Amino acid sequence: GVAADFILIFAYMLGSVPFGLVITHLAGLGDIRAIGSGNIGATNVLRTGRKDLALLTLLLDAGKGAIAVGLTAWLVEPGIAPLAGAVAFMGHCFPIYLGFKGGKGVATFFGTLLAISPATMGATALIWVVVAAITRYSSLAALVAAVAAPLLSAYLFPSDKVLLWPFILVMTIVIFIRHKDNIGRLIKGTESRIGKKSEAAP
Ligand code: G3P
Repeated sequence: GVAADFILIFAYMLGSVPFGLVITHLAGLGDIRAIGSGNIGATNVLRTGRKDLALLTLLLDAGKGAIAVGLTAWLVEPGIAPLAGAVAFMGHCFPIYLGFKGGKGVATFFGTLLAISPATMGATALIWVVVAAITRYSSLAALVAAVAAPLLSAYLFPSDKVLLWPFILVMTIVIFIRHKDNIGRLIKGTESRIGKKSEAAP
């Protein structure tokens, strides 16, 4: 219906807001796309040395997914809420405001997961934290967590209302596509590690 179309367009436009870019710009740090990996996400904001701004970016980018899901379930129809979260995620990765060159989707993925399946989100976030703590690679932690999420949703925490894992799997695939350069650097051993600014890759 019209309401569903409208809320999905809203979800895409909300997901498209590049908070990392806006926040670092407002903080006078210049264009985040000229720093570190060139990404607009929290990991790259951390490379500016501003942990507070990185945390804010993480929360706001995650919030886009959670709010898209929550608003859709509340105002339109719970059945299309997972789709709205996935659409917000697509907005982050392919934003209309930045010529469709956006982020890697990890924070918005977690925000969407939180709203559609808190158990899946909790287990997936734990995996991210463990892999990041061991390897110090944010990208590797995201890739491992992104593979785990649809499996956890399908086998450990299935929803009795809607089939969630196909929506999660689509996001997993897009996360891999968006991490193409990270995967190349991980294989070559040149990926930058969290907490080591000097290793930041171009
Ligand atoms: O969440 C994005 C992260 O997985 C990689 O970010 O800046 O290291 O490419 P970055």
